[in-house]
Amino acid sequence: MTNTNYLIIGSGVAGLTFALRIAEQFPNKKVTIVTKANADESNTKYAQGGIAIVTDKNEDSYQKHIEDTLICGDGLCDEAVVRMVVTEGPKRLKELIEWGAKFDKNSDGNLNLGKEGGHSENRVVHHKDQTGHEIERAILMQVYQKDNITVLDHHFATDLITAENCCLGALVLDEKTQQINTYISDITLLATGGIGHLYGHTTNPVIATGDGIAMAYRAHADIKEMEFIQFHPTAFYEASTGSKFLISEAVRGFGAYLRTKKGHRFMIDYDSREELASRDIVSQSIDLELKKSGDDCVYLDCTHLELEAFKKHFPMIYNHCLKSGIDIAKEWIPVVPAQHYLCGGIVVDTNGKTSVTNLFACGECTQTGLHGANRLASNSLLEALVYSSRIYEYLANPNLEIKTIKKEILKNDTAEKPEIDSNYLTVLKAKLQHLMRQNAGIVRYETDLLNAKEQLLKWKEEIEKIGQTHQINSSYYELLNMITIGTLIVSQSIERQGNRGGFVKFETPSFAKKNS
Ligand code: FAD
Ligand code: SIN
Repeated sequence: MTNTNYLIIGSGVAGLTFALRIAEQFPNKKVTIVTKANADESNTKYAQGGIAIVTDKNEDSYQKHIEDTLICGDGLCDEAVVRMVVTEGPKRLKELIEWGAKFDKNSDGNLNLGKEGGHSENRVVHHKDQTGHEIERAILMQVYQKDNITVLDHHFATDLITAENCCLGALVLDEKTQQINTYISDITLLATGGIGHLYGHTTNPVIATGDGIAMAYRAHADIKEMEFIQFHPTAFYEASTGSKFLISEAVRGFGAYLRTKKGHRFMIDYDSREELASRDIVSQSIDLELKKSGDDCVYLDCTHLELEAFKKHFPMIYNHCLKSGIDIAKEWIPVVPAQHYLCGGIVVDTNGKTSVTNLFACGECTQTGLHGANRLASNSLLEALVYSSRIYEYLANPNLEIKTIKKEILKNDTAEKPEIDSNYLTVLKAKLQHLMRQNAGIVRYETDLLNAKEQLLKWKEEIEKIGQTHQINSSYYELLNMITIGTLIVSQSIERQGNRGGFVKFETPSFAKKNS
């Protein structure tokens, strides 16, 4: 058994930022980060476009950023939360720069600000098209310099330990020894990120399996708005499933056009903001165009853009396209919508507190009220930075009393059991991903959702039974967690009445539904 003061699960921007701040404040307290892959592996690392922050008060204003966020959230944002997050942005940016993160500047020394869908002004602070990589690098470097932070990579949190609705820590599987160890902590932070791999076609890396939300659900924390899945309009088209390379929305902000195979600039037909309408609208329009045409993808046309400037801003995208046989100066990039982000999650208040005492959550695994029915581009890194800081400020209060509960911690079951057939897990995961794409995608149908729920509940029962009689590993937990998340998405989609933002549901199945 290991004792620590702060147990942080996840090492993306949310977990690392909180770890750094709390470790600085309390040098004599122990901060432990457990993370299931390499320490830098996270959705954060792949963020391209940047962070939406009002820095140019001449052209832009907090009010404009607030309004853009509210419009994008389609009536479901919490306005007070939006105001708080937007206005705290500049402080968080200053801190990131102090920690060593570098952002692109113009020749006059001012920040170079990009534009993305739903933004009325240029306000996206970025590091070329690799903003997340730069942020992760800078914060992780700071974290490694703190003596009171221990980073345990390849440590997979399996479940929270709770008693009387209070979190006491977590069970963690050490991937090297395959032992499950008990971590007892004063405070536990879930910063486990998104759910992309539940859909198979996703911009997310393989770590995104919704573990933290599933753990919180098993601990009876409130979970909300799971029906609001964000599909990014422009993932590089590949027929195979798995992580898809993102073509940043900032490329459309730079002037790229969306076209059908025949060359029609279809976004003009759907929204006065054209290619820079919010993500929900662009993804739904592409979905409709593909159903009408029967084509596999639409295209992003960059051929009219200034090539050298493009290469400077988007070197990774330029090279990825070139390696995949697309010279963007001459050819259009094939793109499709792919799962990208989860707007809902573990419900937290403005101090990041969940409904379970001593359990906090931050980042993509949370529902804060910022995004509503659809997240505004580049508001996610901002949300994680602001909330990790809010949680730190709350916990740094010297008068805060942390509730403690005594519970006898039972020894983990060490009985010899047969290993789970890995082929069974692979096949079931593929079936699950197919079910989610078919029945809970961009456009949903009530009957499909009801069928999906029935199937998911059967799989849940089946896999839970297997877990009781077999030696369980991280692949097992990921699948159990994804089935749990799928059930939450489908159930909350059934409950949701009225279409909003990224949520579109009809009563009857479509005649035009395509196989994926
Ligand atoms: P993550 O960065 O995903 O970190 C989660 C961490 O939890 C990982 O370290 C993971 O290994 C760990 N973990 C998960 N489960 C367990 C477990 N069971 N046990 C232990 N560890 C676990 N947002 C923007 O604002 N701007 C952008 O430009 C932008 N571009 C994006 C581009 C791409 C391709 C993607 C995928 C996302 C993008 N986003 C962007 C979204 C944004 O990157 C994420 O929402 C944000 O980084 C999430 O941060 P996080 O710390 O909450 O989670
Ligand atoms: C992108 O660069 O298009 C992603 C931005 C985001 O998800 O906020």
